[in-house]
Amino acid sequence: MDSPKTLKMSWEEFHALPVEEKGKCFFHRGKLYHTIFAQQFDREQLEGLSELATRIRQIAKSRAGMDFLQGLLSHKRAMLYFQQPSTRTFLSFYAACQILGLKAAEVRNTQTSSEVKGETPEDSVRTFSSFFDVIIMRHPEAGFAEKIAWLLSNTERPVPVINAGSGKDQHPTQALLDVYTLIRSFEERDGIDGKTIVFCGDLKRGRTVRSLALLLTNFNDVRMYFVAPEELQIEADITEALERKGVKYDKVYSLSEVVAEADAIYMTRLQDEWDVAGESRKLDLGKYNFLPEYLQRMKPTSVIMHPLPRRNEIPVEVDKDPRAVYWRQVRNGMWVRVALLATTFRLDELIFQHYEYHNR
Ligand code: NCD
Repeated sequence: MDSPKTLKMSWEEFHALPVEEKGKCFFHRGKLYHTIFAQQFDREQLEGLSELATRIRQIAKSRAGMDFLQGLLSHKRAMLYFQQPSTRTFLSFYAACQILGLKAAEVRNTQTSSEVKGETPEDSVRTFSSFFDVIIMRHPEAGFAEKIAWLLSNTERPVPVINAGSGKDQHPTQALLDVYTLIRSFEERDGIDGKTIVFCGDLKRGRTVRSLALLLTNFNDVRMYFVAPEELQIEADITEALERKGVKYDKVYSLSEVVAEADAIYMTRLQDEWDVAGESRKLDLGKYNFLPEYLQRMKPTSVIMHPLPRRNEIPVEVDKDPRAVYWRQVRNGMWVRVALLATTFRLDELIFQHYEYHNR
């Protein structure tokens, strides 16, 4: 597979480009190569990935279908480089690799790598590119995945980079699975267009909310409410992006106010690992928890989402309500990541053709 040749500029020049421009550099011959930012995706790609994920899960139901999928990337290897804690994202990428026959290796702790000998993370990742065909990475530094994508695009052996969470900034593949979950949830109700989406919790440091809000600008007439105390409210870079796209939004200071209007309520946990001295733990977050009594006030057709892990912002008793879709999100995440890997390796058309041929 060849790679983007458009990155022949210094890191400083590249990094300073507007995000939309940088996003374009991560495509090659019109096809997705690196997945780094939510801003790379348009509506057609989002709907295409969702459709592919659904086709793949249908194909995977039979042993013959699973054999077909597992043969697709049996000649390739993936590196999972996770420098922040992860359960779901790591395992769902791992399972997605298995579904495609892609052999996966992992580095999850720099204490066991040559980084303890003083090697830079940049050199470590460049080493991976000598052995592996795709790098899936989570890192505490916001621009690091972008830097690696730029770096590898300019080497003799470029490989695609997939951002599995970058600092407080972005988590594009979580946002892809969230959009897939919304598309499936609203299948019978004209899709995502015209829906009211409520985001609640730590919106300042919650990268999943930031990426999802950006992805949702691809749909028509989506209204957004951001529910958080002032200290944890959504940042101006996101609201400015919404304004540029004409998206209507409001900041709200109690979940109770918008529960009845919501088509989806996206809950998040306090991201206190970013605190300097435990400052956010002192906030009173009572108005930002989902209370079981809200179930009576919610529309019968709306959904409750959460990227997980959760703390106390959704009590476990809410799980049994059919509108609680966060466990479904986890499962959808695996299928969307299979679809993303398949698309990265240009296998999307082949999979659609296989499906058509066997379901005529
Ligand atoms: C999220 C993350 O890592 O940003 N988790 C996930 O990938 N599902 C959300 C979180 O940690 O709160």
